[in-house]
Amino acid sequence: MEFVTLREAELFAKKKIKDKTFQWLQSGAEDNYTLDKNFLDLRKIKIKPKHLNKVGNLDLSKNFFGKKISSPVLLAPMGHQTQFHKNGEIETALGVEKAKSIAFFSTQGRISLNDIRKKNKSTNLGWTIFPFGDEDWILKEIKSAEKNKCIALIICIDANVRSWRYNDRESRYDARKFGRRTNPLPPNPKKALSYDWKLINFIKKNTKLPIILKGILTKEDAIKCIKKKIDAVWISNHGGRMFNSGISGIDAIRNFGPLLKKSKLKIIIDGGIRKGSDIIKYMCLGADFVAVGRPIIHGLVCNNRKGVEKVFEILSDELKTSMINGGFSSYKDLKSNRLSF
Ligand SMILES: Cc1cc2nc3c(=O)[nH]c(=O)nc-3n(C[C@H](O)[C@H](O)[C@H](O)COP(=O)(O)O)c2cc1C
Repeated sequence: MEFVTLREAELFAKKKIKDKTFQWLQSGAEDNYTLDKNFLDLRKIKIKPKHLNKVGNLDLSKNFFGKKISSPVLLAPMGHQTQFHKNGEIETALGVEKAKSIAFFSTQGRISLNDIRKKNKSTNLGWTIFPFGDEDWILKEIKSAEKNKCIALIICIDANVRSWRYNDRESRYDARKFGRRTNPLPPNPKKALSYDWKLINFIKKNTKLPIILKGILTKEDAIKCIKKKIDAVWISNHGGRMFNSGISGIDAIRNFGPLLKKSKLKIIIDGGIRKGSDIIKYMCLGADFVAVGRPIIHGLVCNNRKGVEKVFEILSDELKTSMINGGFSSYKDLKSNRLSF
């Protein structure tokens, strides 16, 4: 199914897969309050255009830990992708490669990192570890990320236990029962409940890969990231899927984005990005990179790897168009004083 906008991709994907599967993809924790807040808070911000600003030489490319990528848009890690395509993560990664971005996958994924790498020899990959096992298991995952030439290691710290998503519970849908798996289940999810910030010392001691903490939402945790010399902070509420009544990425970056900038930590942010102008807003608030989740799966469902590539292409084109028409001549012009709250 060929789509021309992201909202059309969502519509086509909804028609193409089972209602319950689509709902699982879309849903948020409890009654979706935080999921909705991601969209509302982005929507509330307005951008102040400026004109006659020599916008003809816009270059969207960025450097992600030594890799040149085509735009600031990254693939957010998402588990259980074989529900949507029989090759799941492998197919998604092939689309990301064409888009010249970075593909993040996770220990919650269905296809193992070795298998993803086998079929994606030159894709820029990143590996996300949920701390669902003892230190020996975490070490094995780190070594596998290194062996598979991942660019960075993410530690996902905001998903300790399965959340209550009313829509999924009421539809009696259990994602784990659908789609194939080559990635073994993490050995002991309960371990996540016993870790504290010393875990980060352990991980840092055992790898030279850049380390990114995903799920940071408070200034207190941001300060810990600075103290622990983390390489990048991924501001995220997991697309509103894990914790309801929580704050949005917009709330968070407005609170401690400037502090992270001052400390020279890279900022990645996600949640609710569906338009080029959404990216401008997050970047004006200090984000170096933005990540996209659900729309990528819509693209995958509609048109396999080509659909994934197309989602990146549309977002880049929208970003470029919005920057040109808003009078932003380069990323340097993306500052908070161009926003109106
Ligand atoms: C179906 C689905 C599965 C996800 N699985 C993971 C995961 O395995 N690891 C992780 O760190 N985040 C996971 N996330 C969260 C995403 O990485 C990202 O934070 C979120 O989707 C961004 O919001 P968006 O969907 O509005 O773009 C998942 C999100 C969705 C929608």
